[in-house]
Amino acid sequence: MENELVIFGHRGYSGVAPENTMAAFEKALKAGADGFELDVHLTKEGELVVCHDELLDRTTNGTGLIMDKTLTELKQLDAGGWYGEAYRNQSIPTLREALQLIVGKKSLVNIELKNSLIWYEGIEESVIQLIHEMNVQNQIILSSFNHNSILRVKQLDNTLQTGVLYSCVLVEPWEYVSRIGASSVHPSLLSINREIVDKCHEKGLKVYPFFDGGYEEMSHVTKEELMTLGVDGIFTNYIHRYVSE
Ligand code: G3P
Ligand code: CA
Repeated sequence: MENELVIFGHRGYSGVAPENTMAAFEKALKAGADGFELDVHLTKEGELVVCHDELLDRTTNGTGLIMDKTLTELKQLDAGGWYGEAYRNQSIPTLREALQLIVGKKSLVNIELKNSLIWYEGIEESVIQLIHEMNVQNQIILSSFNHNSILRVKQLDNTLQTGVLYSCVLVEPWEYVSRIGASSVHPSLLSINREIVDKCHEKGLKVYPFFDGGYEEMSHVTKEELMTLGVDGIFTNYIHRYVSE
């Protein structure tokens, strides 16, 4: 059965595998998620790689900024051992490796451009070129907390699905997101209510919230509660809570 909500494994199935690794992405699809979310950065020479933080320190055995390393240097790092011995062979995926999982399938990927703290010159062009080369453009949502970057994506390719991420309470987010020209609103779950969701829908916008900070760890928001809220999907670390039987 198809899921009633669009379920994105947040950083893959990060509740059961190290975030933003191939293991986490493969497990997300196997668990019945409609797709997965990942975070993308540029290496020193401009390669697209997947990791949440700008710094390597939390989720790898490396240190320092991704932007200061070459792909060869990054590929030598262990991106799974911090999570558990079983994952010690996981490396930092390239975006190409992650997208290969959905080629020829119906699965979706939300690519978050991680460019709100670092200006990655040309990241939008590189990502768009790759998704066209791999012919997955209809399976992708490009999102960012950097809303200038979403404008840039729209300028480069107006046919792509785009999402505006934010974690504060916005005034009339449906107006703001419509003005940017994005196709979906990606708010922190705690910042929205049914009225906001309805207004977004009236503007033709989808609403895909995420759990900010550690909120998902301490809450057990159910699928029924999300459906009462009226959202179209969810970014979750715990796919099993939301997939349909
Ligand atoms: O796309 C939703 C979510 O991934 C945004 O927050 O910090 O997990 O990248 P973060
Ligand atoms: Ca993200």
